[in-house]
Amino acid sequence: MFAILYSCKKEEGCTDPVATNFNSDAEIDDGSCNYPAEGCTDSTASNYNPYAILSTNTCEYIGCTDSTADNYNIYAIYDDGSCEFSTTPYIIETPFGFPNMIIPDNNPTTIEGVLLGEKLFHDKILSGDESQSCSSCHQKELGFSDGNRFSAGIDGIIGSRNASTLTNSGWNTSFNWDGSVSSLEEQAFEPVVNPIEMHNTWANVETKLNANGEYLQLFKEAFNINYIDSNHVVMAIAQFERTLVSANSKFDRYIEGNEQLSASELSGYAIFNSEKGDCFHCHGTQLFMDNDFHNNGLDHEPFLDIGLASITNNPADNGKFKTPTLRNIEHTAPYMHDGRFSTLEEVVAHYNSGGIYSSTIDPNMKKVGIGLQLTEQEKADLIAYLKTLTDSDFLEKK
Ligand code: HEC
Ligand code: HEC
Repeated sequence: MFAILYSCKKEEGCTDPVATNFNSDAEIDDGSCNYPAEGCTDSTASNYNPYAILSTNTCEYIGCTDSTADNYNIYAIYDDGSCEFSTTPYIIETPFGFPNMIIPDNNPTTIEGVLLGEKLFHDKILSGDESQSCSSCHQKELGFSDGNRFSAGIDGIIGSRNASTLTNSGWNTSFNWDGSVSSLEEQAFEPVVNPIEMHNTWANVETKLNANGEYLQLFKEAFNINYIDSNHVVMAIAQFERTLVSANSKFDRYIEGNEQLSASELSGYAIFNSEKGDCFHCHGTQLFMDNDFHNNGLDHEPFLDIGLASITNNPADNGKFKTPTLRNIEHTAPYMHDGRFSTLEEVVAHYNSGGIYSSTIDPNMKKVGIGLQLTEQEKADLIAYLKTLTDSDFLEKK
């Protein structure tokens, strides 16, 4: 009636949507609103009704609905993305004789991060067609290398470098045979997008991971983030890689006085550690590498792969490659940056020959042209010693 009477004017009525007589056509409030007497009277609730007089336990709350979070709100029905998780430090023990591992301040190792990194490392979701994971080329039982001379990527394209071992890589100060990157975090960006490896884009990886409820939860727990980005993917992977510590070989037990080496192994140890074999200059310390680059006399100039010089552009670095650790060497064949040697016998034959002279050959390759002149027995002893560096627990080989 009212409406008809003033049909030329704006419609009047109750304009408050929470009122029981809310008139959605009304444009002018005429003070006629009636309010429910019952409703949620708690001002912290999401459906708080300021006009309600009596609470009817209808209050609804938003907040963190994850019961494993630190700020879990038992009353919350709607999750507002505010959940926070505390992480548990993962302590990497420094093995006897090892230096302390340098861990970046902005990526401390946590149990949650390591478990997430381990899952990512083994997940084919990172590769373009979901056919390859990091572990396709870095297999645990092979000291986290692969058994091929060169590895094939998802498109079947073969690279020109042998897959590196990841044994104790947390102690490395540079990565890849030519030292092209200087942290595990930085390194992990590369294989995902490398056209001859996993041939993916980070945008694609991020889209897939953010569509995966399990990963959203795991990233939240490890890093307190609601959106997964590439930075946190590589951070988790690097955390996992730092836990790949190998320090329980027969040789370690010998050093600790818990196991004897055979006569042949001891003879090999002496050759390795003396001027006779001269291995220790570059493969010294408990890490069996020096975090440095050398030309160990593999080739004549010009070099097919110039190694370190491709990064430094310094011709004095031609043919220099990062010294690899010799831990688990028995299982990381084939050997050298290009996997040219398939057995330790071939490696020892190379060093025994004294190596090939070139302008950048390392001064510690002292027997160029003369050779080490090891007897057959001494060569066998050296190999027997190298095999004492196998850590079956690490490789999960029994
Ligand atoms: C198709 C095989 C392949 C895949 C897949 C692969 N890698 Fe590699 N990886 C290699 C090869 C080959 C090298 C040596 C590269 C070079 O020196 O140029 C290498 C080197 C490395 C190194 C350097 C180790 C060192 O001490 O120098 C790390 C670390 C590494 N890979 C981690 C990863 C991670 C993490 C992934 C997954 C995101 C991955 N790789 C996927 C083949 C692969
Ligand atoms: C001048 C430094 C130097 C000396 C001395 C040296 N090495 Fe090496 N070694 C290297 C470098 C650098 C590489 C990697 C070279 C490459 O791939 O181009 C290497 C590679 C190796 C490899 C292959 C590792 C792998 O993962 O592919 C083995 C095994 C090895 N050395 C054993 C020895 C033994 C045994 C001796 C002593 C007889 C010795 N080395 C002496 C620097 C040295």
